[in-house]
Amino acid sequence: MAVVSVATWLAPMNLAIVAVALFLGYFLLRPNRWRGNPPPGPSGWPVVGSMFELGNRPVIFFNKMSERYGNIFSLNMGQKRVVVVNSYETWAEAIVEKGHIFADRPDLASFKLQEAGDQSRGVAFTRASEIQRKKIKFVRAAFNPAIPEVAERFYTILSSEVALLMQDIAKENGKPFDPHHVIEFCYVNIIGMLLYGKIFQERNEQYMKWAATFVRRLALGSCMLVDWFPSLAYITSGKAKELKRLVQTMMDWHMKLLEEHRQTLNESNPRDFLDYLLIQQQKGKLMVSDTDICCVLDDLQSNGFDTVTANTIWGIQLLVQNPDVQKKLQAEIDEVVGSGRAPTTKDFRNMPYLEATLWEIQRVAIMAPIPGARGTLSDTTLGGFDIPKDTVLMANHAKMAMNPINFPQPQKFDPSRYLDENGVVVAPDKKMMLFGNGFRICPGMQFARGMMFTVMANLLQRFTFQLPEGVTAFPVGRTDGLVQYPVSYKITAIPR
Ligand code: HEM
Repeated sequence: MAVVSVATWLAPMNLAIVAVALFLGYFLLRPNRWRGNPPPGPSGWPVVGSMFELGNRPVIFFNKMSERYGNIFSLNMGQKRVVVVNSYETWAEAIVEKGHIFADRPDLASFKLQEAGDQSRGVAFTRASEIQRKKIKFVRAAFNPAIPEVAERFYTILSSEVALLMQDIAKENGKPFDPHHVIEFCYVNIIGMLLYGKIFQERNEQYMKWAATFVRRLALGSCMLVDWFPSLAYITSGKAKELKRLVQTMMDWHMKLLEEHRQTLNESNPRDFLDYLLIQQQKGKLMVSDTDICCVLDDLQSNGFDTVTANTIWGIQLLVQNPDVQKKLQAEIDEVVGSGRAPTTKDFRNMPYLEATLWEIQRVAIMAPIPGARGTLSDTTLGGFDIPKDTVLMANHAKMAMNPINFPQPQKFDPSRYLDENGVVVAPDKKMMLFGNGFRICPGMQFARGMMFTVMANLLQRFTFQLPEGVTAFPVGRTDGLVQYPVSYKITAIPR
């Protein structure tokens, strides 16, 4: 029977059909051809390229390739051309010097899913356009602490939510606990208050489900099979289906808030960011749909709380591992603030050692080793190589953070590397751009730094963090995804 089947398959007509199918498959799925002088890189497998070598941690493969090819290399990923940049200089050439060309986010199926099926919505995974520019300008103004009304509101919300965080941690009574969700809860409520005047009253089951939806979305991140084979997008993978479902859950949640706000909107007295957006929409100044507004809120909440939570969780771990730094920070807080009042954003400029420590936490933890990809709006060059329009560009932040020329002894956790001889902070932006730069620079940068500063200053004023008795080390490892956390751990917060 088997012999008959093989013979049947080898019949000339069947062989011809298989050959035509293979040819058509290759023709439809072949990578875009690269004209000119492309950056060097592995050719990968026929049709799929290097797609399966990325795995759940693309950064491991990128680091390996950077050893072989240097500062910039190219990859064939299914039907897409991808360029990975490993050095500050080349990344600055792209997003600062040639920022107008590298201002796009690429046309990727996962980015589309993050923006509820349309990359003209929202602000973060959105393609470059006039309307994206207008929306992001509006967001930047709403989150700019240099504007006095914004600063005042931010200050009030931050103070009250951080006070609640201190109460929450005090309730642990010096016993071992996992700080993740307590800290996340604080950031979610600060951002929620600014965006739509809403806070969760308690960390109950409903809240945990809500937060897990956001975190899972960013953990699914990008680099999905459908990203590299857009012509197969209709055969959605399990992960793509999950992402679509999670985004829809958040859209429904935001839409409900939007309806409630619209019912109670008073144009002369906007209460929060959502009110401002609705007013702009009504006036026709920002031509956005309701779904678009929900995507903007969604981008801000998800990009907002997950990044600062991950940084703070990494920060506590690093301070326990480096008790001398923790002690120095407490000495600075005691000197500048004392114990009679809570530290606020107004103390920021007087605490250079804490500011330097926050930069060092970001560099060593590198919670987003490969931040959101960029796309090219026209043919250009980078590092002397030809880069065609619609190339996907990724920055290997993990490699830049460990560059021994810019950061001597890069594995060492050493905040003093950002302090000059007068004790003044020199931000690392000329060595790596931790908040991006150019057209797509993070609009939440100042806001994020203000939040992380206030949370950390208050925590260290009130508590000393240690490993629980009998525990000698933190578990090793990190989660996957766009925003990465350390493997969950327990510490004790001893009241000072
Ligand atoms: C430690 C905290 C944070 C870090 C390290 C961080 C980092 C980044 C980076 C690297 C980018 C990409 C920039 C580029 O392509 O050049 C970005 C974009 C973005 N971030 Fe942040 N971010 C943080 C916190 C926040 C917060 C608190 C918000 C909002 C409340 C926010 C909102 C956004 C948005 C909306 C974008 C997309 C901007 C665009 O595409 O035009 N981020 N962030």
